[in-house]
Amino acid sequence: MIITEKDRMDGSVHLSEDENCVVILDQRKLPNYVEYQYLDDVKKIYEAIRTLAVRGAPAIGICAGYGMYILAKQKKDLPYEQFAKALHEDGDYLISSRPTAVNLSWAIRRVLKLVDESTDVNKIIERLHDEAINIHNEDIEMCYKVSEYGLSLIKDGDGILTHCNTGPMATSKYGTAIGPVLLGKERGREFHVFADETRPLLQGARLTAFELQKAGVDVTLICDNMASLVMKNGWVQACFVGCDRIAANGDVANKIGTSGVAILAKHYGIPIYSCGPTSTIDMNCPSGEDIVIELRDPEEIKTMWYKEPMALKEVKCYNPSFDVTDHELLTAIITDRGIVYPPFDVNLKKLFE
Ligand code: MRU
Repeated sequence: MIITEKDRMDGSVHLSEDENCVVILDQRKLPNYVEYQYLDDVKKIYEAIRTLAVRGAPAIGICAGYGMYILAKQKKDLPYEQFAKALHEDGDYLISSRPTAVNLSWAIRRVLKLVDESTDVNKIIERLHDEAINIHNEDIEMCYKVSEYGLSLIKDGDGILTHCNTGPMATSKYGTAIGPVLLGKERGREFHVFADETRPLLQGARLTAFELQKAGVDVTLICDNMASLVMKNGWVQACFVGCDRIAANGDVANKIGTSGVAILAKHYGIPIYSCGPTSTIDMNCPSGEDIVIELRDPEEIKTMWYKEPMALKEVKCYNPSFDVTDHELLTAIITDRGIVYPPFDVNLKKLFE
């Protein structure tokens, strides 16, 4: 697959022309404003990831790859020992911005490995540049393959239910769980997508419905608690969801509410596929119980997005950002290396042999 600079520029994250900043599409502002941010220091990168200006597991990994490169360039005059120490500190700090999506630590560890492999600072910086581009290019290729495999499982006219946002904005090109629909659309195929709004940060309403509508896909936005009715009505032939970390036994962490969708899908006998690149599979994580779930600010539930607070100030909130879908609920996991069916513990391992 030949990937051009244009392919990379089309995504929500890229390197600025002068290669001194990571440019991100600010996903907090959509769908009303299309604004970009230029991130040129570690604090700005950390904040952009923490506040979800850049979000979606693969996009966070791509941002971290470019981020580590520009941070390395800023330290080019340091002797190797100090250079390496400072970059490790930056890497650890960035990893702490969001704990659940494995792509963040995966990308940073890839970069830090190169830092540790040589003592020639200029050479390391060159290699980090190439590695950041590789991470981005690989994601484009992986998403394309995930989309191709996913497309083989659906037929024209199917109703697809999705949760959160897994499109080009959250990744690079095509995306993962809505990649099959976008790739299919390019080939003249038609599907109907039900996009869960995805409380509390509304990634489904603000981002998925936006991306699909702009791509000319027939999309209907629903509140999260409408998924059951839509399934019962017979309008959904398959559920496609993303993932932030796939454990070795096939348990999958994804946006809060995904496990509820999976339970409903099982109840109604609808296949449910978790879609993700191999960069999201964490074979060092035995099961969902070992995945750290990010807890976020209660204000995301109480006041954000509303003109007035939606709960008394003193009301307690529980705001986990992700949940774990038990592998027994999943029909298959769609990766760039193929469609993985149960038993997941055996078949995921085979992907890496
Ligand atoms: O909190 P978010 O918006 O970063 O959560 C994103 C998701 O849960 C996505 O489904 C996942 O990262 C996959 S994106 C291809």
